[in-house]
Amino acid sequence: MSPPEIILRRYVDDPERPARLTSQIKGFVKMQFTGTDSYVATNDLNMAVNAAMTLQRPLLVKGEPGTGKTELARQVGAALNMPMIEWNVKSTTKAQQGLYEYDAVSRLRDSQLGDERVNNVSNYIKKGKLWQAFTAPERAVLLIDEIDKADIEFPNDLLQELDRMEFHVYETGETIRAQHRPVIIITSNNEKELPDAFLRRCFFHYIRFPDQDTLRKIVEVHHTGIKETLLTAALTQFYEIRETAGLKKKPSTSEVLDWLKLLLAEDLTAEDLKRDGANALPKLHGALLKNEQDVHLFERLAFMARGGR
Ligand SMILES: Nc1ncnc2c1ncn2[C@@H]1O[C@H](COP(=O)(O)OP(=O)(O)OP(=O)(O)O)[C@@H](O)[C@H]1O
Ligand SMILES: [Mg+2]
Repeated sequence: MSPPEIILRRYVDDPERPARLTSQIKGFVKMQFTGTDSYVATNDLNMAVNAAMTLQRPLLVKGEPGTGKTELARQVGAALNMPMIEWNVKSTTKAQQGLYEYDAVSRLRDSQLGDERVNNVSNYIKKGKLWQAFTAPERAVLLIDEIDKADIEFPNDLLQELDRMEFHVYETGETIRAQHRPVIIITSNNEKELPDAFLRRCFFHYIRFPDQDTLRKIVEVHHTGIKETLLTAALTQFYEIRETAGLKKKPSTSEVLDWLKLLLAEDLTAEDLKRDGANALPKLHGALLKNEQDVHLFERLAFMARGGR
């Protein structure tokens, strides 16, 4: 950041500033994401976030479970000082729920009870996450998390709204338009293919599993001051496990973080982690191996290392 940008940033961060003024000033500051103190972002991830913001297109993030997709959106919000709106998609989620829902049942009940509210249909409109993001007083980050959980119609049904950043409310006749185009981050675990028309509208980034150096930095963020010898021994073992042929579910970033938390809680040292033929299963392996086939695989390896005795 250049010195004028730093001054403006301090001004923007001042909680005493009125929201409208803050959002106007934010428009002058060129927003650039470069990671945060609690999130390690590689250069290509930073570039992807900034490219999506420049294009004003949703950023579609894929990657193995636990590689920081959801956390990325939260950190972009924190770094750019934008409010965060999270839409967690489930198998039953419909696109319309992100726009609004009309509660016809309550309205019918109120009409039977002779309630005054019944005359105003907007009393029965429940705003969805897109609506909230479009009408937020300042530019917001909208996370559409795990889009691949919903059925195939879900992304298709959002094409128009994400493109034009507006939608129509038939019940009230109003059009909801984005006052500030939100930064949209969409995550997927690749459970379902996304339609081409949807992909065309997104900027895509795949979070590759971090290399040793990056993983060290990520661990440092979560377990500051961890002993170098323990970290080296644990990460060497962790990468060996990840690279074991035939593993059904490779452990990822969140698993290694949990594992290290346990090692630290148990006060184990690098020496304690040593595995020999008889004990091929890593210490506290339940944090790393998440199904019985993988545990059996390591037990078989131990058996073979003992010469099948
Ligand atoms: N680059 C990173 N820097 C700091 N912490 C990270 C990073 N990547 C992952 N983590 C940590 O790993 C954990 C899992 O991250 P997150 O929940 O974002 O993963 P995910 O990719 O969304 O997983 P899933 O696909 O299962 O939802 C979090 O505690 C997060 O803080
Ligand atoms: Mg996630």
